[in-house]
Amino acid sequence: SDQPRLVVISNRVAVPKARGVAGAQGGLAGALNAALKKYTGVWFGWSGEEVDEHTGEISTQTTDGVTTATMDLSARDIDEYYNGYANSTLWPLFHYRLDLAEYERETGKGYERVNELFAEAAAPLINDGDLVWVHDYHLIPLGERLRARGLKNRIGFFLHIPWPAARLFVSLPYHERLVHTLLHYDVVGFQTAEWLDSFLHYCRTELGAEVDDEAGTVTLDGRTTLARAYPIGIDWDHFSALGATAEAQKAEKRLLSSTRHRTAMIGVDRLDYSKGLPERLDGIGRFFDQHPERVRDLVFIQIAPPSREDVDSYQQIRAELEQKTGQINGARSEVDAVPVRYVNRGYSHGELFGFFRAAKIGLVTPLRDGMNLVAKEYIAAQDPDDPGVLILSRFAGAAAQLPDALLVNPHSPDDLAHAIGKALDMPLAERKERWEKLVVTVRDDNVQDWTANFLRDLAAQV
Ligand code: G6P
Repeated sequence: SDQPRLVVISNRVAVPKARGVAGAQGGLAGALNAALKKYTGVWFGWSGEEVDEHTGEISTQTTDGVTTATMDLSARDIDEYYNGYANSTLWPLFHYRLDLAEYERETGKGYERVNELFAEAAAPLINDGDLVWVHDYHLIPLGERLRARGLKNRIGFFLHIPWPAARLFVSLPYHERLVHTLLHYDVVGFQTAEWLDSFLHYCRTELGAEVDDEAGTVTLDGRTTLARAYPIGIDWDHFSALGATAEAQKAEKRLLSSTRHRTAMIGVDRLDYSKGLPERLDGIGRFFDQHPERVRDLVFIQIAPPSREDVDSYQQIRAELEQKTGQINGARSEVDAVPVRYVNRGYSHGELFGFFRAAKIGLVTPLRDGMNLVAKEYIAAQDPDDPGVLILSRFAGAAAQLPDALLVNPHSPDDLAHAIGKALDMPLAERKERWEKLVVTVRDDNVQDWTANFLRDLAAQV
């Protein structure tokens, strides 16, 4: 066919196994899996494995029509690049957590070194004419590294997480250098107009780049990059079809029979401080303080698979959550009713579908989130005749697309408690009216459109 081959490069390459843990993998892996099925090509990244010494050896595998190529990394590379610069510097900073961001010379060097390893390993996989699509904050300098090897392909980059306000971003040592590398891509995509605006503002005010708002381009040193927002979606066809599976139906029944006359309220998040989990528990605590008798009406189920367990701030947030759930359950339980079920494991997409459908309230309250696909999956799983209510943080990228959810400020326990009460008592007519609007966006702005939109723009670059 005339369709060019696609080479996708990301840190994490996660082809789901039959019973993969969907809640644990984050939005990127799921979205790329869906996107790649339509294109011939290859998905390259880190195997997730640690070896004594980096060999550059690549293993390839084809699962479900998707060919993946992976390489192992050494303990030092993982420590400096993944746990260090990517997840202790860029991740907190890009999620507005200056207080958690660490700046260390060594990890910055490790980040650049591993990006060079990625370029070295990926370059032989790329043929003339292939479209190259690099993903997320781990690999910002990769495009420039590939160019340095003489690659003439069209190379695009998509950032799955927020881009911070310029005033925050400038606290990163060598921030100019990082953005200069980003401007070696032909297309740079963001989740929302807000993140895009922050980026353009930075390019204009800090780099003195020429920004053409109309065309959506940034020009610096004679090179022009298209910068646009491409809000990511879910694989609607695949996900909505899960409702018919025995796995989903069994999971729905399982949750319903264990909650009986109580309304189930659910949260599903990687165990990450950006997800606002302690703040969520504070809001729930506030609700039960105000309405102690409603422990008979409401049970909250938090699914939180541990993530990035070698990073300090993740160990701390985990300890904090254990303490807070214990506190609420100790203070508010009755002998026959416990308000919070806290589960440190992931579930398959089919099981999550069933849980989402059984839960009449979905709580998605990150303090900051690039998009958040759990919000969209929750909507997709609802029964049209009796849909649940989505409570959504105004700080999730998804809020811009889903104004008919109950939007909340996750920092305010009062606001959360109020929204929980409102959701619990919301009449069927209003639930339907809200859901019918939400589901149109989730169905129509799906991951296939996201892929097609990005690749159309990338292919059009000359
Ligand atoms: C977020 C990031 C992804 C990442 C995922 C899971 O969604 O945007 O790049 O893959 O979290 O985190 P992990 O560190 O396990 O890859």
